[in-house]
Amino acid sequence: MRILITTLGALGLAGAIATAAAAQNVSPEQAHADHRQATISGSGMAGVTLLRMQQGLIEKKNVPQLFDYWATGARLSVEAFRPDTRGADVKTEAKDAIWANWSDFEAAMTAYAEDVEELAALAADGKTDEALGGMGPIFKNHCRGCHNDYRTD
Ligand code: HEC
Repeated sequence: MRILITTLGALGLAGAIATAAAAQNVSPEQAHADHRQATISGSGMAGVTLLRMQQGLIEKKNVPQLFDYWATGARLSVEAFRPDTRGADVKTEAKDAIWANWSDFEAAMTAYAEDVEELAALAADGKTDEALGGMGPIFKNHCRGCHNDYRTD
């Protein structure tokens, strides 16, 4: 019975979300674009926040959790970018090259996620200074490299 109620609840929620999306006239392509932007930008900014903590601009707080958030978002970005929105009328900074070269993009995003996950594991292990000290190459190689190739300015 509980399973049935939970299932009905989930269906009701899905229905409510679909209705809300329809009410706002959001196309499935825009919904995909919104999701990938929120995922890459929210988690990427967790990384930027950690960099600012390391630089002493703001107080170091919740460092392992921020690394975890960053790593989770990086990993989720692989799937978040998969839906091809080329040719659709969407607000996006994603270049068509992403889906024209999907295997290259997927490999780049996966390598990014793996490098962040390594630092997140260090931070979870209490080695927060080591984790904070290892961020430089991620920004240089992954963020900037990928934006140069796959994001419009
Ligand atoms: C493998 C490719 C890739 C990697 C790695 C990557 N990004 Fe991005 N990022 C993108 C793409 C493509 C977009 C544009 C998405 C869209 O508009 O649909 C984007 C968008 C963003 C945005 C939001 C767009 C804006 O300018 O308002 C932010 C913020 C961002 N990335 C930060 C980062 C940071 C910080 C890192 C590294 C810590 C990072 N990204 C790593 C590809 C990447």
